[in-house]
Amino acid sequence: MGLALAAALAAGAYAVAVQQRSADAAAQRERGAALFDGRAPLAGRLVGHETALPALATRCANCHDEASATPASEAAASAAAKPFATALTGAQLAQARPRRGGPPSAYDAARLCAVLRSGTDPAHVMISTTMPRYDVTDLQCRDLWAFLGAR
Ligand code: HEC
Repeated sequence: MGLALAAALAAGAYAVAVQQRSADAAAQRERGAALFDGRAPLAGRLVGHETALPALATRCANCHDEASATPASEAAASAAAKPFATALTGAQLAQARPRRGGPPSAYDAARLCAVLRSGTDPAHVMISTTMPRYDVTDLQCRDLWAFLGAR
């Protein structure tokens, strides 16, 4: 095999691998988006409760996005436009900053898993008990992390 041909084949294989990786990343973000807005159900409970919440109540978007319900009035509309909890973005989560009075801390996929499962943030400060605690798998955390990182 000529050197040029070998190089061309290698370049082709590389391009295919790169394309595959970006397709995988897009699929991962899409799975994360589905978990975030409730198209894919997530198991969660309120602190101190054994019973699982209905899937509609565990959607992250309920609290971390602009409300999607049809508001009854203009005042309700402007209140509804504000997310109930922090609007989550990858930039804000990955940045080392003081959260809830703790020392500066930043999230990664594993720390996102920890806050979802146990409610403790990267500085080990407990977040509000208004947020459900989730039985997420490592894969679901990585998917959510990929989705949040891209918004
Ligand atoms: C019922 C409302 C509710 C739901 C549903 C909810 N959260 Fe939260 N979330 C909160 C509240 C309240 C806080 C605490 C805000 C604070 O203390 O600043 C919070 C905090 C967080 C934080 C910490 C942010 C920081 O800067 O430290 C992350 C990360 C987070 N939520 C992710 C999620 C994800 C992912 C989901 C879905 C799997 C979700 N939340 C579902 C209400 C909710």
